[in-house]
Amino acid sequence: MATNRTFTMLKPDSLEKGYTGAILEKINSAGFRIVAMKMTQMTTADAKDFYAVHKERPFFGELVEYMTRGPIVAAILEKENAVEDFRALIGATNPDDAAEGTIRKLYAASMGENAVHGSDSDENAQIESNFHFSGREQF
Ligand code: RTP
Ligand code: MG
Repeated sequence: MATNRTFTMLKPDSLEKGYTGAILEKINSAGFRIVAMKMTQMTTADAKDFYAVHKERPFFGELVEYMTRGPIVAAILEKENAVEDFRALIGATNPDDAAEGTIRKLYAASMGENAVHGSDSDENAQIESNFHFSGREQF
């Protein structure tokens, strides 16, 4: 996979609140092309595996509960400088610290329930994309 791609998830709170369309519109308007997309629900094993880097953190149990409590939208996005530009578009992890106009500022409730995921490196974008999509599901 080219390094001009990143991976995102619209987290369960976004779908529960009906923000799916608005968030996808923000993503498209910012110049990202959707390379693959699906609605799915993560199992507990999936969430533990996906966020394994955080397994020793005190919020890990809550994070797994949150990410598995309802459907998500998973997508692969393409744009020049995708990883960095998408992290800028979503804003800081804590929506209180997120810049005006960012997805988390607009749609996230709290640090724990922050609407959207964005990969933090090209390497993780590839790992996370492969976690959710097989090669033939990507365009
Ligand atoms: P993400 O991986 O989901 O894009 O979020 P991120 O890089 O901005 O933040 P990260 O440090 O990777 O944390 C992953 C997710 O764990 C939840 N979290 N809760 N209650 C807390 O203190 C806390 N800290 C992190 C959030 O859902 C965060 O996005
Ligand atoms: Mg992260």
